[in-house]
Amino acid sequence: MLYSLVFLVGATIITAQAFRFSGFLWFYLLKPSSVKKYLHGIAPYVLVTGATDGIGKAAARELFVRDFNLIIHGRNEEKVKRVIEELKAQGSGDIQYFIADAAKGGHDFSQLLQPFMDLNITLVVNNVGGVHMNGKKMDASSEADLVELVTWNDLFPLLLTRALLPKLRSTSQRGPVLVQFVGSQSAILGPPTLAVYAATKAFLSTLVRGLDNEEHLWGASSNVEFEHLAVGSVSSAGNPLTVTLAAPSAASFGKALVDRLGCGRRHYAPWMVHAIMEWVVGVLPESVVDRFGASAIRNVYEDHQKRI
Ligand SMILES: NC(=O)c1ccc[n+]([C@@H]2O[C@H](COP(=O)([O-])OP(=O)(O)OC[C@H]3O[C@@H](n4cnc5c(N)ncnc54)[C@H](OP(=O)(O)O)[C@@H]3O)[C@@H](O)[C@H]2O)c1
Ligand SMILES: *[C@@H]1O[C@H](CO)[C@@H](O)[C@H](O)[C@H]1NC(C)=O
Repeated sequence: MLYSLVFLVGATIITAQAFRFSGFLWFYLLKPSSVKKYLHGIAPYVLVTGATDGIGKAAARELFVRDFNLIIHGRNEEKVKRVIEELKAQGSGDIQYFIADAAKGGHDFSQLLQPFMDLNITLVVNNVGGVHMNGKKMDASSEADLVELVTWNDLFPLLLTRALLPKLRSTSQRGPVLVQFVGSQSAILGPPTLAVYAATKAFLSTLVRGLDNEEHLWGASSNVEFEHLAVGSVSSAGNPLTVTLAAPSAASFGKALVDRLGCGRRHYAPWMVHAIMEWVVGVLPESVVDRFGASAIRNVYEDHQKRI
């Protein structure tokens, strides 16, 4: 009797894990991309913030070659124009842009977005954000620096999305519309010297869940979906790391991002190795994870030093 109970429980656990594992392999290795479902209406546009370098630029390029028109955002008009020239050589769509310093408050978002309000925006990639990795503890930063960090990572994407949402809802009457927020796995580690940055990214994760529920569980349901991307290390202008399996180039990451977007999950890691890391973090004791996070950040600082 006891014997068959143990067998039953064991078999159930193994079967559940096998299902989970095959679901994982399907998701990362076989599942076809859903990106085409956002190519509806006449001339669909993607809006990408922080699109002149790193992950944002790579995602914008990948979407442009897959027939989306672009609205790109940057802070330096000359660089934005250079990037537009570069992109235009690789596709035939339209590219528009706007300029705003995301780390500064006081933008009039409805005015910034006015030129695009007649366009069919079906995809928004809230990518702009980051952190100046200066190795300081929280109280060693000035009050102004901390306000900038929160504005850059949270308030800018929040207020931009607020200004876009009514329009996105009406576009979603004709087909699905997706708003992505680029998060960071620092949010599940809280590493030393990145406490506030990690917290700004945790804000985005909670925001996505709430916004998605607002859209679907209360009032008239719209066809606007929200996604939070769990991003681990990516080698970019902002984080110049040696490229490894755990730290892909921005170009490889941008492709993975576009391959997975619209996959139906609200929170996921576009990069398979980052997903494995998130799973490991979930099963280890917090104190072990904390020590791992602290040493991983030390390694990042050392890698940056080597590459200067
Ligand atoms: N790379 C990583 O390891 C990593 C890990 C986790 C999460 N992330 C997240 O991924 C996103 C992109 O990071 P990335 O590494 O690709 O960064 P990146 O290479 O530094 O590129 C950032 C982009 O944002 C723009 N930008 C930066 N500050 C801005 C400001 N104040 N106002 C307007 N635009 C600004 C940059 O413009 P310029 O071209 O003019 O500089 C560039 O287009 C961020 O949200 C970051 O937190 C990155
Ligand atoms: C947006 O899509 C709709 C439906 O396809 C179309 O009627 C409208 O002209 C499009 N708007 C623009 C600016 O392309």
